[in-house]
Amino acid sequence: MYSRRNFLKTAAITTAGLFLQGGLYTTSAQAAQAGPEWWRNAVIYQIYPRSFADANGDGTGDLAGIIGKLDYLQTLGINVIWLSPVFRSPMDDNGYDISDYCDIAPEFGTLAEMEMLIAEAARRDIRILMDLVVNHTSDEHPWFIEARKSRDNPYRDYYIWRAPRTDGSAPDEQRSNFGGSAWEFDATTGEYYFHLFSKRQPDLNWANPQVQQEVHRMMNWWLDKGIGGFRMDVIDLIGKDVDRGITSNGPRLHPLLQEMNAATFGARDVLTVGETWSATPEIAKLYSEPARRELSMVFQFEHITLTWDPQDGKWTPRAFDLREFKGVIGKWQKVLADIGWNSLFWNNHDLPRAVSKYGDPGRYRIESAKMLATALHFLKGTPYIYQGEEIGMTNVRFESVEDYQDAESLGLYRERIAAGVSHEAMMEGIYANSRGNARTPMHWDASEHAGFSHGKPWMKINPNYREINVAAALDDPGSIFHHYRTLIRLRKEYPVIVYGDYRPLLDAHPQVFAYERQLGDQRIVVINNFSGQLVELELPADLRDLAGESLVSNYGPRNVLGRHLTLQPYESFAIALGTPAA
Ligand code: NOJ
Repeated sequence: MYSRRNFLKTAAITTAGLFLQGGLYTTSAQAAQAGPEWWRNAVIYQIYPRSFADANGDGTGDLAGIIGKLDYLQTLGINVIWLSPVFRSPMDDNGYDISDYCDIAPEFGTLAEMEMLIAEAARRDIRILMDLVVNHTSDEHPWFIEARKSRDNPYRDYYIWRAPRTDGSAPDEQRSNFGGSAWEFDATTGEYYFHLFSKRQPDLNWANPQVQQEVHRMMNWWLDKGIGGFRMDVIDLIGKDVDRGITSNGPRLHPLLQEMNAATFGARDVLTVGETWSATPEIAKLYSEPARRELSMVFQFEHITLTWDPQDGKWTPRAFDLREFKGVIGKWQKVLADIGWNSLFWNNHDLPRAVSKYGDPGRYRIESAKMLATALHFLKGTPYIYQGEEIGMTNVRFESVEDYQDAESLGLYRERIAAGVSHEAMMEGIYANSRGNARTPMHWDASEHAGFSHGKPWMKINPNYREINVAAALDDPGSIFHHYRTLIRLRKEYPVIVYGDYRPLLDAHPQVFAYERQLGDQRIVVINNFSGQLVELELPADLRDLAGESLVSNYGPRNVLGRHLTLQPYESFAIALGTPAA
Protein backbone atom coordinates (compact mmCIF):
# COMPACT_ATOMS: atom_id res chain seq x y z
CA MET A 1 0.00 0.00 0.00
CA TYR A 2 2.93 2.28 0.47
CA SER A 3 5.26 3.38 -2.24
CA ARG A 4 8.87 2.44 -2.35
CA ARG A 5 9.67 6.10 -1.87
CA ASN A 6 8.06 6.12 1.53
CA PHE A 7 9.80 2.90 2.61
CA LEU A 8 13.12 4.49 1.92
CA LYS A 9 12.28 7.60 3.83
CA THR A 10 13.65 6.31 7.08
CA ALA A 11 15.85 8.10 9.52
CA ALA A 12 19.31 6.76 10.06
CA ILE A 13 19.30 4.64 13.19
CA THR A 14 22.12 6.00 15.25
CA THR A 15 21.31 3.99 18.34
CA ALA A 16 23.46 1.00 17.48
CA GLY A 17 24.35 0.66 21.13
CA LEU A 18 20.79 -0.34 21.86
CA PHE A 19 21.19 -3.51 19.83
CA LEU A 20 23.76 -4.67 22.31
CA GLN A 21 21.52 -4.52 25.32
CA GLY A 22 20.08 -7.84 24.21
CA GLY A 23 22.77 -9.77 26.05
CA LEU A 24 20.10 -10.72 28.57
CA TYR A 25 18.92 -13.71 26.58
CA THR A 26 21.22 -16.00 24.74
CA THR A 27 19.25 -19.10 23.79
CA SER A 28 15.68 -19.81 22.82
CA ALA A 29 15.24 -21.93 25.87
CA GLN A 30 16.34 -19.08 28.10
CA ALA A 31 14.09 -16.67 26.26
CA ALA A 32 11.22 -19.05 26.86
CA GLN A 33 11.96 -19.10 30.56
CA ALA A 34 12.34 -15.36 30.66
CA GLY A 35 9.02 -14.61 29.03
CA PRO A 36 6.40 -17.32 28.77
CA GLU A 37 3.81 -14.63 28.03
CA TRP A 38 0.48 -16.07 26.92
CA TRP A 39 0.68 -14.37 23.54
CA ARG A 40 3.70 -16.39 22.50
CA ASN A 41 1.60 -19.51 22.02
CA ALA A 42 -1.59 -17.72 20.98
CA VAL A 43 -3.16 -17.80 17.54
CA ILE A 44 -4.87 -14.58 16.51
CA TYR A 45 -7.85 -14.15 14.21
CA GLN A 46 -8.46 -10.83 12.49
CA ILE A 47 -12.02 -9.62 11.99
CA TYR A 48 -12.85 -6.87 9.51
CA PRO A 49 -16.17 -5.94 11.10
CA ARG A 50 -17.92 -4.50 8.04
CA SER A 51 -17.56 -7.82 6.26
CA PHE A 52 -17.77 -10.48 8.95
CA ALA A 53 -21.41 -11.01 9.96
CA ASP A 54 -24.43 -8.71 9.78
CA ALA A 55 -27.02 -9.38 12.47
CA ASN A 56 -29.44 -6.50 11.82
CA GLY A 57 -29.77 -6.90 8.05
CA ASP A 58 -28.57 -3.41 7.06
CA GLY A 59 -25.93 -4.94 4.79
CA THR A 60 -22.95 -4.01 7.02
CA GLY A 61 -21.38 -6.39 9.50
CA ASP A 62 -21.80 -5.50 13.17
CA LEU A 63 -20.85 -6.37 16.76
CA ALA A 64 -23.97 -8.46 17.31
CA GLY A 65 -22.98 -10.44 14.22
CA ILE A 66 -19.53 -11.08 15.72
CA ILE A 67 -21.01 -12.15 19.06
CA GLY A 68 -23.14 -14.65 17.14
CA LYS A 69 -20.02 -16.22 15.62
CA LEU A 70 -17.91 -16.57 18.77
CA ASP A 71 -18.76 -20.26 19.06
CA TYR A 72 -17.44 -20.76 15.55
CA LEU A 73 -14.18 -19.06 16.51
CA GLN A 74 -13.95 -21.13 19.65
CA THR A 75 -14.35 -24.27 17.52
CA LEU A 76 -11.51 -23.06 15.33
CA GLY A 77 -9.44 -22.73 18.51
CA ILE A 78 -8.11 -19.18 18.28
CA ASN A 79 -7.27 -17.23 21.47
CA VAL A 80 -7.41 -13.64 20.37
CA ILE A 81 -9.49 -11.53 18.01
CA TRP A 82 -7.89 -8.49 16.41
CA LEU A 83 -10.86 -6.29 15.68
CA SER A 84 -10.29 -3.80 12.87
CA PRO A 85 -11.72 -0.41 13.95
CA VAL A 86 -15.29 -0.26 15.21
CA PHE A 87 -15.08 3.29 16.59
CA ARG A 88 -17.30 6.16 15.54
CA SER A 89 -16.15 7.27 12.11
CA PRO A 90 -17.36 8.89 8.90
CA MET A 91 -15.88 5.79 7.20
CA ASP A 92 -13.81 7.61 4.62
CA ASP A 93 -11.27 4.79 5.10
CA ASN A 94 -13.73 2.21 6.43
CA GLY A 95 -13.13 3.09 10.07
CA TYR A 96 -9.39 3.89 9.97
CA ASP A 97 -10.55 7.51 10.25
CA ILE A 98 -11.84 7.84 13.81
CA SER A 99 -14.01 10.71 15.04
CA ASP A 100 -14.55 9.37 18.58
CA TYR A 101 -12.16 6.84 20.14
CA CYS A 102 -14.52 6.15 23.03
CA ASP A 103 -17.66 5.34 21.13
CA ILE A 104 -18.78 2.75 18.60
CA ALA A 105 -19.91 3.56 15.04
CA PRO A 106 -23.71 3.21 14.98
CA GLU A 107 -23.56 0.83 12.00
CA PHE A 108 -21.51 -1.54 14.15
CA GLY A 109 -23.57 -1.23 17.36
CA THR A 110 -23.20 0.35 20.77
CA LEU A 111 -20.67 0.58 23.55
CA ALA A 112 -22.86 -1.82 25.55
CA GLU A 113 -22.56 -4.36 22.73
CA MET A 114 -18.81 -3.85 22.66
CA GLU A 115 -18.67 -4.59 26.37
CA MET A 116 -20.81 -7.65 25.76
CA LEU A 117 -18.43 -8.80 23.03
CA ILE A 118 -15.46 -8.48 25.42
CA ALA A 119 -17.32 -10.44 28.10
CA GLU A 120 -18.71 -13.13 25.78
CA ALA A 121 -15.29 -13.62 24.21
CA ALA A 122 -13.69 -13.89 27.66
CA ARG A 123 -16.19 -16.65 28.55
CA ARG A 124 -14.66 -18.59 25.65
CA ASP A 125 -11.06 -17.72 26.61
CA ILE A 126 -10.79 -15.29 23.74
CA ARG A 127 -9.30 -11.82 24.20
CA ILE A 128 -10.04 -8.80 22.08
CA LEU A 129 -7.36 -6.57 20.55
CA MET A 130 -8.57 -3.11 19.63
CA ASP A 131 -7.13 -1.35 16.60
CA LEU A 132 -5.29 1.75 17.81
CA VAL A 133 -5.33 4.29 14.98
CA VAL A 134 -3.42 7.25 16.37
CA ASN A 135 -1.13 8.37 13.57
CA HIS A 136 -4.16 10.36 12.45
CA THR A 137 -7.78 11.04 13.30
CA SER A 138 -10.79 11.72 11.10
CA ASP A 139 -11.28 15.31 9.98
CA GLU A 140 -14.56 15.01 11.89
CA HIS A 141 -12.82 14.39 15.21
CA PRO A 142 -13.67 17.26 17.62
CA TRP A 143 -9.94 17.98 18.01
CA PHE A 144 -9.60 18.67 14.29
CA ILE A 145 -12.88 20.58 14.09
CA GLU A 146 -11.48 22.86 16.77
CA ALA A 147 -7.96 22.95 15.33
CA ARG A 148 -9.08 24.28 11.97
CA LYS A 149 -11.15 27.11 13.51
CA SER A 150 -8.22 29.47 14.06
CA ARG A 151 -4.45 29.51 14.32
CA ASP A 152 -4.60 30.20 18.03
CA ASN A 153 -7.19 27.55 18.87
CA PRO A 154 -6.01 25.42 21.84
CA TYR A 155 -6.27 22.32 19.62
CA ARG A 156 -4.33 23.81 16.70
CA ASP A 157 -1.11 22.12 17.74
CA TYR A 158 -2.75 18.68 17.93
CA TYR A 159 -2.12 18.51 14.17
CA ILE A 160 0.73 19.44 11.81
CA TRP A 161 0.28 22.83 10.12
CA ARG A 162 2.70 24.69 7.88
CA ALA A 163 2.53 27.96 5.93
CA PRO A 164 2.27 27.86 2.12
CA ARG A 165 5.34 28.61 0.03
CA THR A 166 5.47 32.19 -1.29
CA ASP A 167 3.61 31.16 -4.44
CA GLY A 168 0.84 29.67 -2.30
CA SER A 169 1.77 26.06 -3.07
CA ALA A 170 2.15 23.23 -0.54
CA PRO A 171 5.16 23.45 1.85
CA ASP A 172 6.97 20.58 0.08
CA GLU A 173 6.57 17.66 -2.31
CA GLN A 174 5.67 14.92 0.20
CA ARG A 175 3.03 12.51 -1.10
CA SER A 176 0.10 10.83 0.57
CA ASN A 177 -0.05 7.03 0.54
CA PHE A 178 -3.48 7.28 -1.06
CA GLY A 179 -2.32 9.51 -3.93
CA GLY A 180 -1.82 13.27 -4.25
CA SER A 181 0.02 15.69 -2.01
CA ALA A 182 0.41 14.98 1.71
CA TRP A 183 -0.59 18.62 2.33
CA GLU A 184 -4.13 20.00 2.19
CA PHE A 185 -4.82 23.72 2.18
CA ASP A 186 -7.24 25.00 4.79
CA ALA A 187 -8.82 28.22 3.50
CA THR A 188 -10.15 29.39 6.88
CA THR A 189 -6.74 29.67 8.48
CA GLY A 190 -4.57 29.99 5.37
CA GLU A 191 -2.23 27.08 6.20
CA TYR A 192 -1.69 23.52 5.03
CA TYR A 193 -2.18 20.45 7.25
CA PHE A 194 -0.29 17.20 6.82
CA HIS A 195 -1.95 13.85 6.02
CA LEU A 196 -0.15 10.67 5.05
CA PHE A 197 -3.44 8.99 4.12
CA SER A 198 -6.61 10.61 2.77
CA LYS A 199 -7.13 14.34 3.27
CA ARG A 200 -9.90 13.33 5.65
CA GLN A 201 -7.26 11.68 7.90
CA PRO A 202 -5.14 14.56 9.28
CA ASP A 203 -1.95 13.37 11.03
CA LEU A 204 -1.72 14.00 14.75
CA ASN A 205 1.24 15.97 16.05
CA TRP A 206 3.00 13.53 18.38
CA ALA A 207 5.54 16.18 19.34
CA ASN A 208 2.75 17.75 21.40
CA PRO A 209 2.69 16.24 24.93
CA GLN A 210 -1.05 16.91 25.14
CA VAL A 211 -1.64 14.57 22.20
CA GLN A 212 0.40 11.89 23.95
CA GLN A 213 -1.56 12.30 27.17
CA GLU A 214 -4.94 12.23 25.42
CA VAL A 215 -4.02 9.02 23.63
CA HIS A 216 -2.69 7.43 26.81
CA ARG A 217 -5.88 8.32 28.65
CA MET A 218 -7.97 6.79 25.91
CA MET A 219 -5.84 3.61 25.87
CA ASN A 220 -6.24 3.18 29.62
CA TRP A 221 -9.98 3.68 29.28
CA TRP A 222 -10.10 0.71 26.89
CA LEU A 223 -7.67 -1.38 28.94
CA ASP A 224 -9.93 -0.86 31.97
CA LYS A 225 -12.70 -2.46 29.97
CA GLY A 226 -10.69 -5.68 29.92
CA ILE A 227 -9.41 -5.77 26.37
CA GLY A 228 -6.46 -8.03 25.51
CA GLY A 229 -4.31 -5.31 23.98
CA PHE A 230 -3.84 -3.27 20.84
CA ARG A 231 -2.91 -3.67 17.21
CA MET A 232 -1.24 -0.35 16.45
CA ASP A 233 -1.97 1.10 13.04
CA VAL A 234 1.10 2.43 11.11
CA ILE A 235 2.76 3.04 14.45
CA ASP A 236 6.18 3.47 12.81
CA LEU A 237 4.96 6.85 11.53
CA ILE A 238 4.29 8.58 14.86
CA GLY A 239 7.88 9.74 15.40
CA LYS A 240 7.93 11.58 12.07
CA ASP A 241 9.81 14.79 11.39
CA VAL A 242 7.97 16.35 8.47
CA ASP A 243 10.39 19.24 8.05
CA ARG A 244 13.19 16.81 7.33
CA GLY A 245 10.91 14.63 5.17
CA ILE A 246 11.16 11.73 7.62
CA THR A 247 7.98 9.76 8.02
CA SER A 248 8.86 6.19 9.12
CA ASN A 249 11.27 5.42 11.97
CA GLY A 250 11.49 9.06 12.96
CA PRO A 251 13.76 10.22 15.75
CA ARG A 252 11.00 10.31 18.38
CA LEU A 253 9.49 6.91 17.61
CA HIS A 254 11.08 4.63 20.23
CA PRO A 255 11.00 7.12 23.12
CA LEU A 256 7.31 7.71 22.35
CA LEU A 257 6.60 3.99 22.50
CA GLN A 258 8.50 3.59 25.74
CA GLU A 259 6.51 6.43 27.25
CA MET A 260 3.28 4.90 25.98
CA ASN A 261 4.24 1.53 27.44
CA ALA A 262 5.00 3.09 30.84
CA ALA A 263 1.82 5.18 30.89
CA THR A 264 -0.60 2.49 29.68
CA PHE A 265 -0.15 -1.23 29.01
CA GLY A 266 3.30 -1.79 30.50
CA ALA A 267 2.02 -3.07 33.81
CA ARG A 268 -0.82 -5.09 32.30
CA ASP A 269 -0.89 -8.59 30.89
CA VAL A 270 -1.70 -7.66 27.30
CA LEU A 271 -0.44 -8.10 23.76
CA THR A 272 0.67 -5.21 21.58
CA VAL A 273 1.50 -5.55 17.92
CA GLY A 274 2.67 -2.65 15.80
CA GLU A 275 2.07 -2.29 12.08
CA THR A 276 5.53 -1.31 10.83
CA TRP A 277 6.00 -1.33 7.07
CA SER A 278 9.50 0.02 7.42
CA ALA A 279 10.86 -2.48 9.96
CA THR A 280 14.03 -4.41 9.27
CA PRO A 281 14.82 -7.31 11.62
CA GLU A 282 17.17 -5.07 13.60
CA ILE A 283 14.49 -2.42 13.96
CA ALA A 284 11.97 -5.10 14.95
CA LYS A 285 14.29 -6.04 17.79
CA LEU A 286 14.14 -2.47 19.05
CA TYR A 287 10.38 -2.73 19.25
CA SER A 288 10.08 -6.23 20.65
CA GLU A 289 13.04 -6.88 22.92
CA PRO A 290 11.28 -7.26 26.30
CA ALA A 291 13.93 -5.34 28.21
CA ARG A 292 13.28 -2.22 26.11
CA ARG A 293 9.62 -2.12 27.19
CA GLU A 294 8.01 -1.20 23.91
CA LEU A 295 5.75 -3.73 22.13
CA SER A 296 5.21 -7.49 22.16
CA MET A 297 5.89 -7.78 18.42
CA VAL A 298 5.48 -6.02 15.09
CA PHE A 299 4.11 -6.87 11.67
CA GLN A 300 6.88 -6.69 9.09
CA PHE A 301 6.10 -6.69 5.38
CA GLU A 302 9.33 -7.67 3.68
CA HIS A 303 7.92 -11.00 2.47
CA ILE A 304 4.87 -9.16 1.12
CA THR A 305 6.67 -6.42 -0.80
CA LEU A 306 8.78 -9.05 -2.59
CA THR A 307 5.83 -9.46 -4.95
CA TRP A 308 5.68 -5.73 -5.73
CA ASP A 309 7.68 -3.85 -8.30
CA PRO A 310 10.62 -2.23 -6.47
CA GLN A 311 9.92 1.20 -8.01
CA ASP A 312 6.27 1.10 -8.87
CA GLY A 313 4.95 -0.75 -5.83
CA LYS A 314 1.93 -3.02 -5.54
CA TRP A 315 0.14 -1.83 -8.68
CA THR A 316 2.79 -3.46 -10.84
CA PRO A 317 2.92 -6.95 -9.37
CA ARG A 318 6.03 -9.08 -9.55
CA ALA A 319 6.09 -12.89 -9.70
CA PHE A 320 6.53 -14.69 -6.38
CA ASP A 321 10.02 -16.14 -6.09
CA LEU A 322 10.25 -18.82 -3.44
CA ARG A 323 14.01 -18.53 -3.02
CA GLU A 324 13.75 -14.83 -2.25
CA PHE A 325 10.88 -15.55 0.12
CA LYS A 326 12.91 -18.21 1.96
CA GLY A 327 15.78 -15.77 2.27
CA VAL A 328 13.54 -13.17 3.89
CA ILE A 329 11.77 -15.56 6.25
CA GLY A 330 15.04 -17.24 7.21
CA LYS A 331 16.60 -13.88 8.02
CA TRP A 332 13.70 -12.85 10.27
CA GLN A 333 13.64 -16.22 12.02
CA LYS A 334 17.36 -15.93 12.66
CA VAL A 335 17.62 -12.33 13.81
CA LEU A 336 14.65 -12.58 16.17
CA ALA A 337 15.56 -16.09 17.33
CA ASP A 338 16.45 -15.17 20.89
CA ILE A 339 15.65 -11.50 21.32
CA GLY A 340 12.31 -10.14 20.19
CA TRP A 341 9.44 -11.98 18.57
CA ASN A 342 7.98 -12.52 15.10
CA SER A 343 4.39 -12.16 13.98
CA LEU A 344 3.44 -14.54 11.18
CA PHE A 345 0.87 -13.78 8.51
CA TRP A 346 0.05 -14.23 4.85
CA ASN A 347 -2.77 -11.71 4.54
CA ASN A 348 -4.86 -9.08 6.28
CA HIS A 349 -7.48 -6.47 5.34
CA ASP A 350 -4.89 -4.55 3.29
CA LEU A 351 -3.56 -7.49 1.30
CA PRO A 352 -4.89 -9.91 -1.29
CA ARG A 353 -6.07 -13.40 -0.37
CA ALA A 354 -3.18 -15.75 0.39
CA VAL A 355 -4.34 -18.65 -1.76
CA SER A 356 -4.70 -16.36 -4.78
CA LYS A 357 -1.31 -14.77 -4.23
CA TYR A 358 0.92 -17.68 -3.27
CA GLY A 359 -1.10 -20.78 -4.11
CA ASP A 360 -3.40 -21.95 -6.88
CA PRO A 361 -6.96 -20.68 -6.31
CA GLY A 362 -8.26 -22.93 -9.11
CA ARG A 363 -7.16 -26.53 -9.51
CA TYR A 364 -5.27 -26.86 -6.21
CA ARG A 365 -7.15 -24.41 -4.03
CA ILE A 366 -7.59 -26.80 -1.13
CA GLU A 367 -4.13 -28.36 -1.31
CA SER A 368 -2.35 -25.04 -1.69
CA ALA A 369 -4.35 -23.29 1.06
CA LYS A 370 -3.45 -26.09 3.46
CA MET A 371 0.17 -26.00 2.36
CA LEU A 372 0.39 -22.26 3.01
CA ALA A 373 -1.14 -22.73 6.45
CA THR A 374 1.32 -25.46 7.40
CA ALA A 375 4.29 -23.51 6.04
CA LEU A 376 3.40 -20.53 8.24
CA HIS A 377 2.07 -22.09 11.42
CA PHE A 378 5.18 -24.13 12.20
CA LEU A 379 7.43 -21.07 12.14
CA LYS A 380 8.60 -19.38 15.32
CA GLY A 381 6.34 -16.45 16.19
CA THR A 382 2.65 -15.74 16.70
CA PRO A 383 0.41 -16.68 13.74
CA TYR A 384 -2.44 -14.47 12.52
CA ILE A 385 -5.38 -15.72 10.48
CA TYR A 386 -7.42 -13.24 8.47
CA GLN A 387 -11.18 -13.91 8.30
CA GLY A 388 -12.02 -16.30 5.47
CA GLU A 389 -8.43 -17.55 5.14
CA GLU A 390 -9.46 -20.62 7.16
CA ILE A 391 -11.91 -21.63 4.42
CA GLY A 392 -9.64 -20.66 1.52
CA MET A 393 -11.48 -17.56 0.28
CA THR A 394 -10.04 -16.13 -2.94
CA ASN A 395 -9.52 -12.78 -4.70
CA VAL A 396 -12.29 -11.29 -6.85
CA ARG A 397 -12.26 -9.82 -10.36
CA PHE A 398 -14.79 -7.00 -10.30
CA GLU A 399 -15.25 -5.03 -13.51
CA SER A 400 -15.06 -1.59 -12.02
CA VAL A 401 -12.63 -0.12 -9.52
CA GLU A 402 -15.61 1.36 -7.65
CA ASP A 403 -16.73 -2.16 -6.72
CA TYR A 404 -13.57 -2.55 -4.60
CA GLN A 405 -14.96 0.12 -2.24
CA ASP A 406 -11.53 1.27 -1.18
CA ALA A 407 -10.09 4.77 -0.80
CA GLU A 408 -6.61 3.58 -1.69
CA SER A 409 -7.52 1.65 -4.88
CA LEU A 410 -9.72 4.48 -6.09
CA GLY A 411 -7.26 7.27 -5.21
CA LEU A 412 -4.33 5.55 -6.89
CA TYR A 413 -6.44 4.44 -9.87
CA ARG A 414 -7.38 8.07 -10.58
CA GLU A 415 -3.87 9.35 -10.07
CA ARG A 416 -2.25 6.73 -12.30
CA ILE A 417 -4.84 6.87 -15.08
CA ALA A 418 -4.30 10.66 -15.18
CA ALA A 419 -0.55 9.96 -15.46
CA GLY A 420 -1.11 7.79 -18.54
CA VAL A 421 -1.33 4.22 -17.15
CA SER A 422 -3.92 2.19 -19.08
CA HIS A 423 -7.16 1.05 -17.46
CA GLU A 424 -6.23 -2.58 -18.27
CA ALA A 425 -2.80 -2.34 -16.64
CA MET A 426 -4.25 -0.69 -13.55
CA MET A 427 -7.01 -3.30 -13.25
CA GLU A 428 -4.41 -6.09 -13.40
CA GLY A 429 -2.72 -4.44 -10.42
CA ILE A 430 -6.07 -4.21 -8.63
CA TYR A 431 -6.92 -7.86 -9.33
CA ALA A 432 -3.57 -8.88 -7.91
CA ASN A 433 -3.19 -6.55 -4.95
CA SER A 434 -6.21 -4.38 -4.16
CA ARG A 435 -7.24 -4.36 -0.51
CA GLY A 436 -10.80 -4.94 -1.71
CA ASN A 437 -9.91 -8.57 -2.43
CA ALA A 438 -9.79 -9.27 1.29
CA ARG A 439 -12.83 -7.20 2.17
CA THR A 440 -15.64 -8.97 0.33
CA PRO A 441 -18.18 -10.30 2.85
CA MET A 442 -17.47 -13.54 4.67
CA HIS A 443 -19.05 -16.70 3.26
CA TRP A 444 -21.06 -18.43 5.97
CA ASP A 445 -23.22 -20.69 3.83
CA ALA A 446 -24.60 -21.20 0.31
CA SER A 447 -27.79 -19.18 0.86
CA GLU A 448 -28.44 -15.75 -0.62
CA HIS A 449 -25.72 -13.20 0.29
CA ALA A 450 -23.61 -16.10 1.58
CA GLY A 451 -25.41 -16.03 4.93
CA PHE A 452 -23.57 -12.77 5.66
CA SER A 453 -26.68 -10.56 5.73
CA HIS A 454 -30.42 -10.59 5.11
CA GLY A 455 -30.06 -7.24 3.39
CA LYS A 456 -28.04 -6.06 0.42
CA PRO A 457 -24.36 -6.32 1.40
CA TRP A 458 -22.33 -3.09 1.44
CA MET A 459 -19.85 -4.71 -0.92
CA LYS A 460 -20.34 -7.29 -3.65
CA ILE A 461 -19.89 -10.89 -2.60
CA ASN A 462 -17.40 -13.19 -4.29
CA PRO A 463 -19.55 -15.34 -6.63
CA ASN A 464 -17.76 -18.52 -5.54
CA TYR A 465 -19.48 -18.51 -2.12
CA ARG A 466 -21.77 -21.43 -3.02
CA GLU A 467 -18.73 -23.68 -3.14
CA ILE A 468 -16.48 -21.97 -0.57
CA ASN A 469 -18.31 -21.37 2.70
CA VAL A 470 -18.13 -22.12 6.42
CA ALA A 471 -21.10 -24.50 6.52
CA ALA A 472 -19.53 -26.73 3.87
CA ALA A 473 -16.13 -26.53 5.57
CA LEU A 474 -17.48 -27.52 8.98
CA ASP A 475 -19.19 -30.58 7.47
CA ASP A 476 -16.09 -31.83 5.67
CA PRO A 477 -13.40 -33.39 7.89
CA GLY A 478 -10.89 -32.89 5.06
CA SER A 479 -11.59 -29.15 4.73
CA ILE A 480 -9.13 -26.30 5.00
CA PHE A 481 -10.97 -25.24 8.18
CA HIS A 482 -10.21 -28.56 9.90
CA HIS A 483 -6.60 -28.30 8.77
CA TYR A 484 -6.30 -24.91 10.51
CA ARG A 485 -7.94 -26.38 13.58
CA THR A 486 -5.29 -29.09 13.70
CA LEU A 487 -2.48 -26.57 13.32
CA ILE A 488 -3.83 -24.43 16.16
CA ARG A 489 -4.18 -27.47 18.42
CA LEU A 490 -0.63 -28.66 17.64
CA ARG A 491 0.83 -25.28 18.60
CA LYS A 492 -0.72 -25.68 22.04
CA GLU A 493 0.53 -29.26 22.42
CA TYR A 494 4.12 -28.94 21.22
CA PRO A 495 6.32 -26.32 22.91
CA VAL A 496 8.87 -26.89 20.13
CA ILE A 497 6.50 -25.11 17.73
CA VAL A 498 6.47 -22.04 19.96
CA TYR A 499 10.00 -21.97 21.32
CA GLY A 500 12.13 -24.30 19.20
CA ASP A 501 15.13 -23.19 17.14
CA TYR A 502 14.60 -22.76 13.41
CA ARG A 503 16.92 -24.36 10.87
CA PRO A 504 16.34 -24.02 7.12
CA LEU A 505 16.53 -27.18 5.00
CA LEU A 506 16.99 -27.56 1.23
CA ASP A 507 17.74 -23.86 1.16
CA ALA A 508 18.55 -23.53 -2.52
CA HIS A 509 15.57 -25.51 -3.78
CA PRO A 510 13.38 -23.34 -6.06
CA GLN A 511 10.06 -25.05 -5.26
CA VAL A 512 10.35 -26.46 -1.76
CA PHE A 513 10.25 -24.56 1.52
CA ALA A 514 11.49 -26.92 4.22
CA TYR A 515 12.72 -26.34 7.72
CA GLU A 516 13.28 -27.97 11.05
CA ARG A 517 12.35 -26.86 14.54
CA GLN A 518 14.17 -28.21 17.57
CA LEU A 519 13.81 -27.83 21.31
CA GLY A 520 15.76 -30.25 23.50
CA ASP A 521 15.02 -33.65 22.03
CA GLN A 522 11.82 -32.50 20.31
CA ARG A 523 12.37 -32.19 16.57
CA ILE A 524 9.86 -31.36 13.85
CA VAL A 525 10.52 -31.32 10.13
CA VAL A 526 8.19 -29.35 7.85
CA ILE A 527 8.24 -29.82 4.06
CA ASN A 528 6.15 -27.72 1.65
CA ASN A 529 5.97 -27.92 -2.11
CA PHE A 530 5.11 -24.41 -3.32
CA SER A 531 4.52 -25.59 -6.88
CA GLY A 532 1.78 -27.30 -8.85
CA GLN A 533 4.30 -29.90 -10.10
CA LEU A 534 5.59 -33.19 -8.78
CA VAL A 535 8.94 -32.63 -7.09
CA GLU A 536 11.62 -35.28 -6.58
CA LEU A 537 13.85 -34.68 -3.59
CA GLU A 538 17.08 -36.09 -2.34
CA LEU A 539 17.15 -35.60 1.42
CA PRO A 540 20.25 -34.44 3.29
CA ALA A 541 22.10 -37.08 5.31
CA ASP A 542 20.72 -36.11 8.72
CA LEU A 543 17.13 -36.45 7.53
CA ARG A 544 17.39 -39.80 5.79
CA ASP A 545 15.64 -42.94 6.91
CA LEU A 546 13.89 -41.46 9.89
CA ALA A 547 10.52 -42.52 11.26
CA GLY A 548 8.27 -40.28 13.26
CA GLU A 549 4.77 -39.13 13.94
CA SER A 550 2.74 -37.54 11.18
CA LEU A 551 1.46 -34.30 12.70
CA VAL A 552 -0.37 -32.81 9.76
CA SER A 553 -0.47 -33.32 5.99
CA ASN A 554 -2.58 -32.51 2.97
CA TYR A 555 -2.29 -35.78 1.00
CA GLY A 556 -2.62 -38.34 3.79
CA PRO A 557 -0.22 -39.09 6.64
CA ARG A 558 3.55 -39.11 6.14
CA ASN A 559 5.59 -40.61 8.93
CA VAL A 560 8.77 -41.82 7.33
CA LEU A 561 11.49 -39.90 5.57
CA GLY A 562 13.41 -42.09 3.12
CA ARG A 563 16.37 -40.95 1.05
CA HIS A 564 14.24 -39.87 -1.85
CA LEU A 565 10.95 -38.09 -1.53
CA THR A 566 8.38 -37.43 -4.22
CA LEU A 567 6.11 -34.53 -3.40
CA GLN A 568 2.67 -34.14 -4.98
CA PRO A 569 1.56 -30.69 -6.25
CA TYR A 570 1.45 -28.37 -3.23
CA GLU A 571 2.07 -31.30 -0.93
CA SER A 572 2.99 -30.32 2.58
CA PHE A 573 3.48 -32.12 5.85
CA ALA A 574 5.09 -31.96 9.27
CA ILE A 575 6.66 -34.93 11.03
CA ALA A 576 7.75 -35.10 14.66
CA LEU A 577 10.93 -37.11 14.35
CA GLY A 578 12.01 -39.87 16.64
CA THR A 579 13.81 -43.08 15.83
CA PRO A 580 15.54 -44.21 12.64
CA ALA A 581 13.16 -46.09 10.34
CA ALA A 582 13.55 -49.87 10.49
C1 NOJ B 1 -3.07 0.87 7.86
C2 NOJ B 1 -4.37 0.16 7.85
O1 NOJ B 1 -4.15 -1.21 7.95
C3 NOJ B 1 -5.08 0.57 6.59
O2 NOJ B 1 -6.23 -0.19 6.35
C4 NOJ B 1 -5.40 2.04 6.69
O3 NOJ B 1 -5.96 2.49 5.48
C5 NOJ B 1 -4.15 2.85 6.96
N1 NOJ B 1 -3.30 2.28 7.97
C6 NOJ B 1 -4.52 4.21 7.46
O4 NOJ B 1 -5.06 4.10 8.75
